Amino acid sequence: MPTRFYPQPSTPPIESDTEFLTAFRDHEFDQHYPDHIREQSACHWTPIDVCQMAAQMLVEAPGTRVLDIGCGPGKFCAAGAATTLGHFTGVEQRIRLVKAARDLLERLRITRAEIVHANITTISFAAFDAFYLFNPFEENILPMLRIDHDVEMESRLYDDYTLHVQQQLELKPLGTRIVTYYGSCAEVPECYTCVKTAYDGTLKLWVKTHSHLEDTSDSDAPPEPCRFPHLI
Ligand SMILES: C[S@@+](CC[C@H](N)C(=O)[O-])C[C@H]1O[C@@H](n2cnc3c(N)ncnc32)[C@H](O)[C@@H]1O
Repeated sequence: MPTRFYPQPSTPPIESDTEFLTAFRDHEFDQHYPDHIREQSACHWTPIDVCQMAAQMLVEAPGTRVLDIGCGPGKFCAAGAATTLGHFTGVEQRIRLVKAARDLLERLRITRAEIVHANITTISFAAFDAFYLFNPFEENILPMLRIDHDVEMESRLYDDYTLHVQQQLELKPLGTRIVTYYGSCAEVPECYTCVKTAYDGTLKLWVKTHSHLEDTSDSDAPPEPCRFPHLI
């Protein structure tokens, strides 16, 4: 689990909403949440500095539409919308996290971000250009990562959700970007290539570099390591 020491910042004068957000350190940012959400931050929500770097990796031009797959209380969407010119949508299955995320966006007056209360299986990937994932489905197979008991958890859901996301991402055009933070990256199809890493390799930028319909097999080459061990 990521654990960090945050030195006390020397506080600069703050003149805009964006500066207001970027001036936060992670533990300060989390003060915007109720206790039960703040207490889960170190394990379950992306640190604010990582959110900013991930958003910068994903937004290639003003208006890039980014989807956070399992957005929790909305840190990534808030930081991304405040520090880039992209448009951020978070989809989240837990209503209490949806409410916390919407409250946060309203309180910080962050526009170009919205939160959808839904399961990822109901979302059209055609409406988005780029995607962010921080361990959305792992709690189905790792009980110690369980956030709460508000939603059904089963190992078959890990397989179902992972396969669904993988298939949707396969259909996206060449050049599509994904950023993953931690995790097995099993949701990322083989037609994407990891082109950049940060934070000791825990943050990865993937770009779709070849069509999933192309036959990339080479009979003389050793087989690629399996990135989807739960389905074999
Ligand atoms: C580890 S948290 C990451 C939250 C946020 N993306 C971040 O980086 O701070 C994963 C989130 O995915 C949500 N989630 C898991 N499965 C989901 C599904 N099938 N549909 C929508 N949200 C889901 C969980 O409720 C949880 O809030």
